[in-house]
Amino acid sequence: MGRWWSGSVGYEIYPRSFADANDDGYGDLEGLRLRLPYLEWLGVDAIWLAPFYSSPGFDHGYDVSHYCEVNPIHGDLDDFDRLVADAHDRGLRVVVDIVPNHSSSHHRWFQQARESRDSPYRDYYIWKDPARDGGPPNNWVSHFGGPAWTLDEASGQYWCHLFLPEQPDLNWTNPAVREEFDGILRFWCDRGADGFRIDVAHGLMKDPEFRDNPQRVPITDPENPAEVFGAYDHLHDLDQDATTDIYRRWNRVIEPYDAILIGETNPRTIDRVARYVEGDGLHTIFYLEPVWMSWKPVELLDKLEAMNRASDTGVSWVIDNHDASRSATLFGGGVDGQHRSLAMMTFMCALGGFPFLWEGQELGLHDAQLETTNLEDPISTRNEHGIGRDVTRTVMPWDTTHANGFSATAEPWLVAPDRPLEETVAGQKGDPDSWLNKHRELLSVRKSLPDLWQGKPQWFAAPRGNARALRRGDTIAVANLGQAAMEFELPPGSWEVRYDSRGTATGDRLAGPATVAAEATYLLSLR
Ligand code: NOJ
Repeated sequence: MGRWWSGSVGYEIYPRSFADANDDGYGDLEGLRLRLPYLEWLGVDAIWLAPFYSSPGFDHGYDVSHYCEVNPIHGDLDDFDRLVADAHDRGLRVVVDIVPNHSSSHHRWFQQARESRDSPYRDYYIWKDPARDGGPPNNWVSHFGGPAWTLDEASGQYWCHLFLPEQPDLNWTNPAVREEFDGILRFWCDRGADGFRIDVAHGLMKDPEFRDNPQRVPITDPENPAEVFGAYDHLHDLDQDATTDIYRRWNRVIEPYDAILIGETNPRTIDRVARYVEGDGLHTIFYLEPVWMSWKPVELLDKLEAMNRASDTGVSWVIDNHDASRSATLFGGGVDGQHRSLAMMTFMCALGGFPFLWEGQELGLHDAQLETTNLEDPISTRNEHGIGRDVTRTVMPWDTTHANGFSATAEPWLVAPDRPLEETVAGQKGDPDSWLNKHRELLSVRKSLPDLWQGKPQWFAAPRGNARALRRGDTIAVANLGQAAMEFELPPGSWEVRYDSRGTATGDRLAGPATVAAEATYLLSLR
């Protein structure tokens, strides 16, 4: 028997933007609880909540100032308990986010660490003396722009931060930090959490000698944090071998609760993936490349296949999350982008592991159009860098009442034009051909075909290029992401198209050479 997540599909929720029950412009846990019937109807099995903990909000919750308290803008612990109880009654699991790479600079640990070099909390963080020229101790850069070091004038030492200066990195070589987090994991499991999505799971350990990262390519736009970050080989600040020891320890902590550990992990190479998920560490990792890629079908399929071959059960597949442009936009925009997004998601539903949808993906949403004066993401507000991640974080469009039904009268925290009826849940629910119903149907078909995650994966030698096929038990998934229809030679037998992301072939019985429409994925089962 597999664990509870075997065969499950998850749904990511950004609590700030999902539903605002108390009408203050910020989404809250109670608003989310009231929307659980929608998620149950959609057919997801688990929800993952982005951070809702106490936080000054420099990175909208990924800067946690108390790991066991609810940020009052999102509610309180009683709301959390009610949410979990209601979700469990509906058969939905609740995965919460944990942010162990860094805390907020407002956390009392950091406040006390800064007070003196002798504070018992000093060693909870990473402090280094300046380089000989007085500058930062090495060449590491922050994901969000600028160096990964900020000088603490009072003590004359720099603190390390792979993200904002207000997100100081914790020192995971300190046993006291490890113990603190054991307690935090237990706290949420005791309250009913079914697992954790671990933020920057590959970042916790650093090179013991804090060596410079080699620079791979010259930097053309120093104001573009993604380009600057990508110009280095992150040999020494990320994906250190010793990191996985932490997850083996966590695995022992959460084991009695039957909880899942899902790492937001970006290993340097695909062959390092198994280090995290094989054995007794993490259960799955989010594979993030497809979230950031534009429409390059050959490359996308190469990566998916390589990743599936590296681990069939250990991947949480995603094409959308709260950190990137929406897939329908990245994959070319318009109706083409929407079809491509669904074709990719359909194929991911046949790759084993634990796939996730991101709120609004099921509506086929494109990026929101935002005025630059309304941007909130620190990547945008602290760099001359344009739009950042806000385009995907606007409120969930429920209907065409005030703020698309997100709040009763309040202006949402992230101001954007309302979406039209056809982009809302209310506008799509009754239309069998809507993106919403196509996604719902996909989840229901996946559930009816356990071979899609239990069968042993066998990749067909052909087709290659921008098409791939995979057999598992009595099911086959064929993705044809090219621009022309394709012929695919089916193994002997009569194969029923159980799901077709284009919707034109569902129900057909195929045998021998079968035609697969352009930019479509078919799920077939042997009759
Ligand atoms: C990854 C999260 O998904 C992102 O939203 C956040 O800004 C960084 N980690 C830092 O915590």
